[in-house]
Amino acid sequence: MIMQPKAKFRADYQGPAFTIDSVALDFYLDPASTRVTARSLVRRIADGPLCLDGEQLQLLSLKIDGQDYSEFEHNAQGQLELKSVPEQFELEIVTEIAPAENKALEGLYLSGDAYCTQCEAEGFRRITYFLDRPDVLAKYTTTVHAPKANFPFLLSNGNKVDSGEGENGYHWVRWEDPFPKPSYLFALVAGDFDLMEDSFTTRSGREVALQLFVDRGNLDRADHAMLSLKNAMAWDEQRFGLEYDLDIYMIVAVDFFNMGAMENKGLNVFNSKYVLANKATATDSDFLGIEAVIGHEYFHNWTGNRITCRDWFQLSLKEGLTVFRDQEFSSDLGSRAVNRIKNVRILRGHQFAEDAGPMAHPIRPDKVIEMNNFYTLTVYEKGSEVIRMLHTLLGEQAFQKGMQLYVKRHDGQAVTCDDFVAAMQDASGVDLTLFKRWYSQSGTPVVSLSGHYDLANKRYTLELSQRTPVTADQQDKLPLHIPVSIELLSADGESIPLSVDGAEVSPVLHLTEERQSWEFDNVGSKPVVVALQDFSAPVRLESNYSFAELMHIVEHAHNSFARWDAMQSIVVMWMQEAVGVLQAGEQLRIPAELISLVESILQQSMDAAFKAELLTLPSESELADSFDEVDIDAIATARDFLFESLAESLDAQFEQLELECQKHDQQSLNHADMGWRALRGVCLVYLGFSKPGLIVDVYQNSHLMTDKLAALGAANRAKIAERDAMFGDYEQQWQHDGLVMDKWFSLQACQHRDDVLLRVRELMSHPSFSFDNPNRLRSLVGAFCAANPRHFHAKDGSGYAFLGEILTRLNSSNPQVAARLITPLIQTKKLDSARKTLIIKQLKKLLALPDLSKDLFEKVDKALAQLQE
Ligand code: TRP
Ligand code: ZN
Repeated sequence: MIMQPKAKFRADYQGPAFTIDSVALDFYLDPASTRVTARSLVRRIADGPLCLDGEQLQLLSLKIDGQDYSEFEHNAQGQLELKSVPEQFELEIVTEIAPAENKALEGLYLSGDAYCTQCEAEGFRRITYFLDRPDVLAKYTTTVHAPKANFPFLLSNGNKVDSGEGENGYHWVRWEDPFPKPSYLFALVAGDFDLMEDSFTTRSGREVALQLFVDRGNLDRADHAMLSLKNAMAWDEQRFGLEYDLDIYMIVAVDFFNMGAMENKGLNVFNSKYVLANKATATDSDFLGIEAVIGHEYFHNWTGNRITCRDWFQLSLKEGLTVFRDQEFSSDLGSRAVNRIKNVRILRGHQFAEDAGPMAHPIRPDKVIEMNNFYTLTVYEKGSEVIRMLHTLLGEQAFQKGMQLYVKRHDGQAVTCDDFVAAMQDASGVDLTLFKRWYSQSGTPVVSLSGHYDLANKRYTLELSQRTPVTADQQDKLPLHIPVSIELLSADGESIPLSVDGAEVSPVLHLTEERQSWEFDNVGSKPVVVALQDFSAPVRLESNYSFAELMHIVEHAHNSFARWDAMQSIVVMWMQEAVGVLQAGEQLRIPAELISLVESILQQSMDAAFKAELLTLPSESELADSFDEVDIDAIATARDFLFESLAESLDAQFEQLELECQKHDQQSLNHADMGWRALRGVCLVYLGFSKPGLIVDVYQNSHLMTDKLAALGAANRAKIAERDAMFGDYEQQWQHDGLVMDKWFSLQACQHRDDVLLRVRELMSHPSFSFDNPNRLRSLVGAFCAANPRHFHAKDGSGYAFLGEILTRLNSSNPQVAARLITPLIQTKKLDSARKTLIIKQLKKLLALPDLSKDLFEKVDKALAQLQE
């Protein structure tokens, strides 16, 4: 009989019956049989049995207070249940594990030649039997034994306290972490690395040793990560008043990693993608990504580690808050407007789709089968939006007061999202009762806007209403507390002071009911409303702006984000019309006003990075978000048509701008130069059609990966004759470097040519490709399925069948990555019925797999339910 995996519910939370105050771990590392001895001090704190989590472990011995103990059994949940234990005792457990066979990259595994661990969320139970839950905080002492020649570095959390030589070429190192922590923050690394060392003096004068471990030969790619770390440490002191607490901070870069990075106390483990970079191997956006992720993991030291989550349903407590902090870090160091735009593009292109799909959940989920499936855009990115709204409602000062109270109250504890909001409310005096609904209600709210101008009384009435469409997980929706930041623009583009009943009011309106209106007085002419400045809430805006009004906003709004947003709306408006035109079998045309709007943007002087964003069309997935039914082919055709028409009509203007960018770029990594390169990259893609020679020239003569990649992208897009030669050259140069080849794999997976799937299949046998490496899989297979919609959704179902094959294979080796790659196959509700039928067939095939993982089961089961409803 096949057992269906069981869900856990947030409402069922119960504190543990026992806690573990301290644990001493001993590792004898070996690829096939690593021996782990765990000596824990266990203490009863409530009624109930002692049930230890454990998975894929071989139990060698179990002792209580030094005596062999055998009164245990495996319960229905697969835990080890110990019958009748003392109130307080020492538990010694010896287990054996096989890191070399661990392809799931959870628990202890081998990344190349190095051992490393990944314990969040529930990976520690693959190392030893333990109370593997975040509300059990223990002090860890870890001793690692391994052959010295191959593993000169033996690392774990905290401070190195002892070391020595053993027999047969072994050596050992002992680490002690003075801060009690949950098991998910445990880490161990053993290997041979190059080491970059630096130091940071905290504002109270303590010196912290900074160590960055990279694969041998990679020191010339470590500078930026180290600089980002020092910037993050200084920024957290300045903006949040938070200082680092250990004497050492270590970061290890590994090639095999399921996610971006992991905040283990004092010993971060990073996907090498978020560490290794120099100008020849990495693009500017890679550099920015490194800054953000290094910051993110560092900021977890307070928001996550010192104060952690009571249970995994509270994940957004640490992730939403830490994403907010890393976004603020990037915005303070770089361009605030451009950062905001990039974050909103992710929300609209992907998080809104999650809300509309079968996996919809609130930022604090209520029901989980596999926790790994809830490291989502909703928990992270929407979670950060919720913190950002709090920041908007409270203001920086009161928000920081709230943070201080939160830290003071809960340092050293495992707490809930409610505890966080309570600290914010208590410190600020702002009533957050209604606001808390953002934590429990899923879905993307729709805010509608309408207005009425009364010329005689110079009054403008603005009416806002809200509704949240039903989601797969929740039928009933209630009004939320939505901050809507507005500006009123006069006909000549001036900002009209906001006044109600003669008194000046804040631009942030509090929409708390289903429908509300505001009457602004002293409004001299009919205004144009700029709504959702800086995207003040994660909602969809419904309005009936005319093209002229949107253009007025693009030209005059004081908020940069709002100008960009209006530009997006103009494109979306045209796209919606264009898709209708195509479906009616008619000819597309671009209105002259649209061309001249783009022309005026090309010629205006403004921040280069911002201009690049204004000139970038919404992606196919962002566009899909604005349609109720998604016609993949029509959207792609219309988008191409718009792009190519702009390229043709504005060729001379793009050429001139490209020259200007070249002139300004001093090729440094400062934000101004990055902006010029981003803008140049946009120009190059438009210019690819008319100037293939320019593209080849940039590719051959620039020393920067940013430019080379822009040239390759342009060559791809315009299908220039030299394209294959350029790709061949890149392959020749970088084939021994997986990270650099990832860019090459992705570009090929995203091509628009009929045989692209065949090419992707061929590339899976390329010597640089490895099925077991998640970065390679994502860059080739992931890019094809998620970023090449017209070919993934090919009408013959070949794309779906391909992903089905991949998932079948990955289900047994790395279910966590499988469950991430499946996304484009489950967010399919808006597709036509012929495609849905093909998708259902693939999903049913997966559901029938004899050993289907919990990870895939949860998603496939929900996707089928949504498609067949
Ligand atoms: N906590 C990590 C972060 O947000 C991410 C993470 C969660 C993770 N689960 C993981 C990383 C599994 C690697 C593998 O920074
Ligand atoms: Zn995180």
